Amino acid sequence: MNPNFDGSLLKDLEARYMREKVPINVSFRNLVGHVKGGERYAHYIHSYPAKLLPHIPIFFLESLNAEGRGGIVLDPFCGSGTVGLEAIIHGRKAVLYDTNPLACLISKVKTKTINELGIQNDLEKIMSNAWQVKASRDERPNVVNRDYWFQESVQNGLMSIRKSISDAGEDNKDFFWMCFSSCCHKVSNTDKRLSVPVKPRVPPKAIPKKQVIELFSEICTQNIKRMLTVGEVQALGECHVYNQDSRRNNPDVLDGSVDVVITSPPYAGAQKYIRSSSLSLGWLGMAGSGELRPLEKKTVGREHLIISDRTMDGVPEVDGLIDNINEIFKSNAERAYIISCYMKDMNESLAEMFRVLKRGGDLILIMGDNTVVGKPFSTAKYVVRIAEKVGFVVRLFTSDRIVSRSLMTKRNGSVEAIAHEHVIWMKKI
Ligand SMILES: C[S@@+](CC[C@H](N)C(=O)[O-])C[C@H]1O[C@@H](n2cnc3c(N)ncnc32)[C@H](O)[C@@H]1O
Repeated sequence: MNPNFDGSLLKDLEARYMREKVPINVSFRNLVGHVKGGERYAHYIHSYPAKLLPHIPIFFLESLNAEGRGGIVLDPFCGSGTVGLEAIIHGRKAVLYDTNPLACLISKVKTKTINELGIQNDLEKIMSNAWQVKASRDERPNVVNRDYWFQESVQNGLMSIRKSISDAGEDNKDFFWMCFSSCCHKVSNTDKRLSVPVKPRVPPKAIPKKQVIELFSEICTQNIKRMLTVGEVQALGECHVYNQDSRRNNPDVLDGSVDVVITSPPYAGAQKYIRSSSLSLGWLGMAGSGELRPLEKKTVGREHLIISDRTMDGVPEVDGLIDNINEIFKSNAERAYIISCYMKDMNESLAEMFRVLKRGGDLILIMGDNTVVGKPFSTAKYVVRIAEKVGFVVRLFTSDRIVSRSLMTKRNGSVEAIAHEHVIWMKKI
């Protein structure tokens, strides 16, 4: 793919930031004008909370590549694989981590090419099987509050599809499991405007089994079309996805082996990735009702803390962070612990990013700020200070207005919505 940026715009922004040292307002949507909103390659194959605007990785991949930098791109908080997909479209090798198995599945599928004939054949077999196969109640997977979120006829339909996919050949199974997850979400009794399962005000209409099976087929057909556009890219890079904790050392990724890290970590106090994936995780057999908490414990930005998390010990001492947390503690101890835990987790994650990056390598961090218990909390500023302590040097700090990121909901007056996100470019020198 030919770069649209020759690096001069990034250099100009960098020079201005180094001169003025104040965040620069930038609209990446406008900046990357050659990419229109809406469908692009396989970005829409599955919904995911707080997806990244593709324009941000595109701008940096193209600008940095113009200077001959590139090679391996890491996203240690990959979610649905936006960075990974753009990286391989731009001919790089992508390495992705996420602790949410659903995120790993979507990312894996999104960054692979498909064989049209093979996948169409598999779909036909799955469909003809799904119309015939029956399953007993006992065979249904352990989905959290399954009978509350899924009508009986819907469960019957999902079970027929599930059994048919299980019997299908291995080649395209991940693709069909991902489409199945998308189908589960669409036929659940949940309010589709929200990422976490919540009952809608108006009771959902009855969905017959036939409709569930037909919907699955439609989702597969539409996603095959999307995946074929990825296959058309010339010199497509390859991608490796790890179900890996960003805070831990990944033995497969060697010290100093990564050229660029582009990542949008979870936001402090607004993260419900496991809850929002819980129904899919159950139907996919990845995590039933008793297995969601252990997954949540690995999530940076988690809200349910275990006893050992409830401490401010170990919070990095940067720029008045501890004083700010102490202020929060006076009105809401739990919020103070949640923020402390977040900062410690980000410290560990940044140390791992530093380890794997080459000297001269780039880190692009996409972060938002919060208002916690009515007080402004400069999450991005503190995380950048922690990154500097780890060894990174800031080259550019920009702010972009958030148009829509579904997890940024105001909740209980304790954490408020984030109106801007910051895109920060740092280097390991
Ligand atoms: C803001 S989302 C990333 C969204 C992604 N850029 C996209 O476009 O879909 C943050 C992701 O970090 C993941 N995450 C949270 N804690 C993690 C950890 N300790 N290690 C790796 N991933 C983690 C969450 O599961 C979530 O998928």
